[in-house]
Amino acid sequence: MNSLTDTTIDLDTELIRRDFPILSRQASSGAPLIYLDNGATTQRPETVIEAMSACYRQYYANVHRGIHTLSEESTSAFENARESIARLIGANTSEIVFAAGTTAAINTVARSWGDSHLAAGDTILLTIAEHHANIVPWQQLAERTGCRIVFLPVDETGQIDDEIVQQYLQQWSPKLFAFTAVSNVLGTEFPVARWVRLARQAGATVLVDAAQAVPHQVVDVGDWDADFVVFSGHKVCGPTGIGILYGKSAVLEAMPPFLGGGAMIRTVSTSGYVAGEVPQKFEAGTPPIVEAIGLAAAARYVGEIGLARIDRHEKRLVRRALDGLATIDGVRVFGPPADRRGGIVSFVVDAMHPHDVSQWLDIRGIAVRAGHHCAMPLHERLGVPATCRASFYLYNTEAEVDAFVNAVGEVRRRADRPSRRASARQGS
Ligand code: ALA
Repeated sequence: MNSLTDTTIDLDTELIRRDFPILSRQASSGAPLIYLDNGATTQRPETVIEAMSACYRQYYANVHRGIHTLSEESTSAFENARESIARLIGANTSEIVFAAGTTAAINTVARSWGDSHLAAGDTILLTIAEHHANIVPWQQLAERTGCRIVFLPVDETGQIDDEIVQQYLQQWSPKLFAFTAVSNVLGTEFPVARWVRLARQAGATVLVDAAQAVPHQVVDVGDWDADFVVFSGHKVCGPTGIGILYGKSAVLEAMPPFLGGGAMIRTVSTSGYVAGEVPQKFEAGTPPIVEAIGLAAAARYVGEIGLARIDRHEKRLVRRALDGLATIDGVRVFGPPADRRGGIVSFVVDAMHPHDVSQWLDIRGIAVRAGHHCAMPLHERLGVPATCRASFYLYNTEAEVDAFVNAVGEVRRRADRPSRRASARQGS
């Protein structure tokens, strides 16, 4: 057993960091970069950059279209990529649809499954912790069909009791229950398999937004048993412009195609078209070929390191961050305790706008995100217009977390200090 296959061994972050060229650069202030904006997007290891560059340099051509060497090589790399990605989440290759990202994947479900299954008076159940990508497509569907949307509330700790979920499912009998596996703001890990079971008992179809889950924890779509699971490539060390729509075969087969054109057909005549098989039925136009190859390299990379180890590592970092921030007066942290959350910590500093906090941290080389994180309804529930968010990944270290906590402490002390102009005024 080597250090990769023994999942009880902790991550060697020093070794891992060497795989990521960008991590050795400095911020514009000259401070060493501490990248804590992994909820927004992650960095790429050399193996992903290499895989994409090798395709462009050696065998790039369009897929499923040419009977020539390059096209056959790129088609086979593209379909092998589907296999690596399927393996990452325990799916079959025919259940893996390449989309442009999580947002595009959800929009595809809303347009294809949603338009053919929902009508006026039907209900879609969401949680208030959803990213806009898992709200707006359903609001647009509601505009088209007249269906209604109901939101599950979160409690003070950013969690939702199973009993509340059950109560809403019984009260509203939703056609669809769409929820995030891990909140991109609170970090809350929702109990996906349990909620899917409850939804099934209530007769609902289930979509899981796994954008903040697949990169950070073991995800097995068989264990979850949801109808749809979606995630993005760029949050799991892969490229932008690609995401995955996983759908149960029977569900995908019964769905009409959404976009038309390209390789999504079996035949086309002047009187109409016959759609192709899944997954190609949902992949109109030239697909993200090089991106799929890059995402497969990323899937193999995190898979070999081990998602269980990555999860454990992040939980250790998040506990350290929560413990550290708890010692600073005037810092309010949102979300559940460390054992119920992924590697995400959102907070506000009294008397400072999150954008200013973020700017001060940047001077220390620390990259965090500030704003509503595409979750305005959740921020309304939290009673703040914006938060600062630190989000960790496999290459972050305890020393980086300590530097982050110290920097927040400094920012907080600075907020307490009267400005020079105010002191001058008081003195005059
Ligand atoms: N969805 C990404 C985030 O949470 C962009 O930052």
